[in-house]
Amino acid sequence: MTATLIDGKAFAATVREKVAGHVARLKEEHGITPGLAVVLVGEDPASQVYVRSKGKQTVEVGMNSYEHKLDAGTSEADLLALIDTLNNDPAVHGILVQLPLPKHLDEDLVINAIDPAKDVDGFHISNVGLLGTGQKSMVPCTPLGCLMMLRDHHGSLSGMDAVVIGRSNIVGKPMAQLLLGDSCTVTIAHSRTKDLADVVRRADIVVAAVGRPEMVPGDWIKPGATVIDVGINRIDAPEKGEGKTRLVGDCHFDSCAAVAGAITPVPGGVGPMTIACLLANTVTACCRANG
Ligand code: GUN
Repeated sequence: MTATLIDGKAFAATVREKVAGHVARLKEEHGITPGLAVVLVGEDPASQVYVRSKGKQTVEVGMNSYEHKLDAGTSEADLLALIDTLNNDPAVHGILVQLPLPKHLDEDLVINAIDPAKDVDGFHISNVGLLGTGQKSMVPCTPLGCLMMLRDHHGSLSGMDAVVIGRSNIVGKPMAQLLLGDSCTVTIAHSRTKDLADVVRRADIVVAAVGRPEMVPGDWIKPGATVIDVGINRIDAPEKGEGKTRLVGDCHFDSCAAVAGAITPVPGGVGPMTIACLLANTVTACCRANG
C-alpha cells in the first residue's frame, strides 16, 4: 500500500470533542442544552443499529436525545402529527427521520414536513435549494463529512477534477454541490455513464457512493488521486469461517490503495464522520434557533 490512510474514526473523535465543547458552553453561558429527536418507523435491523449509535453519541457529547420508535404499520397521519409536535417543541433543535421508511409512507412528504431549521439531515427541499444556490443551509451529514476530510487532507480543493460515482439525493447530488462550492470541476457518474473507467481515471478526487461492493478497481484510479469510499457493504467471507461476513466499500481497497495518494478505509472512514456531522448540525441548528 502506498496511499496515506485518511482516518475518519480519529477525525470524527476530534469533531465530537469540538461539539462537546460547544455544548458545554451553550449550557454554561446560555442555559441551553441542544436536543436531537430521532424517529424510527419499523424494525429494519441496520436502521436500528444506526439509531442506537446516534442516540448514544448524542448523549456522550452532552446533548439531549429523544428517540421515537414507531411500529411498521404507523399511518402517515400519525407520523406527520409527531413531526408537527417535534417542530413545535422548543427543546428539540434537530429532527431526523431514519430512512428508508416503510413503503406505505411517502418519504418526500414526510421529510418536507420537518421544519427546515430543524432538518439536521439537510434533506428538506428548502435546504436542498439553499445548498444548490450556495446559500446558508443545513448540509447532509455524509457529504459534509467527506468534504471535511478532503479539506483537511488537501487544504484547498480549488481547480481539482472530482468524480462522484452515484447520484442519490442523500450523498451523490449534495456531494457534487459541495465540491462545486469548493471550486472543483465536478462530474457525477452513475449506472448509465459510458466509459466509467475513463471518467474515473481523469479524477484527482473520487467519491464512490453507489452501494456496490468493491466495484471500483485500482486500475481506474489516477496515480496519486484521493479516494473517498462512502460504501458500506456486507459480503460473505468464507475465509473467516462458515457463515462469516465482512464489511467492504464500493472501492477495492487493496488495489486502489496501491495507486491512490490517499484513501478512506471501510470501516473507519466516512461512516464515523456521518454521525459526528449530525451532532455538529444539531449544535448549528440550536445556535441559529437561539440567535
Ligand atoms: N439512512 C441512511 N443514511 C441516512 C441518513 O443520512 N439520514 C437518514 N435520515 N436516514 C438515513
